[in-house]
Amino acid sequence: MRITLVLLHGFPHDGALWEPNLPFLSEHADVSAPDLLGFGGNKHTRRIATMDDLASDLHEHLRARRPGQRYVLCGLSMGGYVAMAYAERWPETVYGLILCNTRSTPDTEEAKAGREATAHEALTKGMEVIARAMIPKVLSSSTRREQPEVVQRVEALMARQDPTGVAAASRGMALRPDRTEVLRAFDRPALVITGEADELMPLPTSQHMARTLPHADLVVLPGAGHLSNVEAVGGFNAAVARYLQDM
Ligand code: MLT
Repeated sequence: MRITLVLLHGFPHDGALWEPNLPFLSEHADVSAPDLLGFGGNKHTRRIATMDDLASDLHEHLRARRPGQRYVLCGLSMGGYVAMAYAERWPETVYGLILCNTRSTPDTEEAKAGREATAHEALTKGMEVIARAMIPKVLSSSTRREQPEVVQRVEALMARQDPTGVAAASRGMALRPDRTEVLRAFDRPALVITGEADELMPLPTSQHMARTLPHADLVVLPGAGHLSNVEAVGGFNAAVARYLQDM
């Protein structure tokens, strides 16, 4: 049975987040990098879109475009939340999990309040303001200093997202449950990737997931922040390719 590597972007991006990874990863697997519900061309008008909603939409997409295949789900941050929701609901189709710069635990009360503030800002101030404010949080200081083209590309990617979809997913992230037990029950090969300078998902978060998954390796990419796939393209690609070869 063929394996499809499904790349799931973070918040607030779209499938184009994976552009720097596609040429290399396509040599190692069939690759799909869809726009998750509410992002890129996948627009809607809901007030809230939970991670289960995003996973159901992804399931429909994969059923229509890549039926009867086994998937390795590779999710970055919010994409990781979606991958875990998907693995909980359709475990038989998930052959492998790559969880990047993400966490299995739910939001704190403080984080939940922040989600509503982000939703409100997206709707009232627009995405350019959000994109500018997010850059120092999602890219490490060395990436900002040494890779100006990455800064520009990521900011433009965030700025072009639809505020309605962004607000709905922000509210949806606040509602996600603890999915640590989904990881404990995942009896297939897994990989956890993070950036050593990720301030949004500090290293213990990734160590916790790698310890919980029965068969997982942990890769920490030097110099990378929260968007490790674009900040450390070579290291990220090599880790994914090694995982695919060994599975
Ligand atoms: C992301 O990059 O997807 C976000 O940081 C996820 C989150 O806000 O929890």
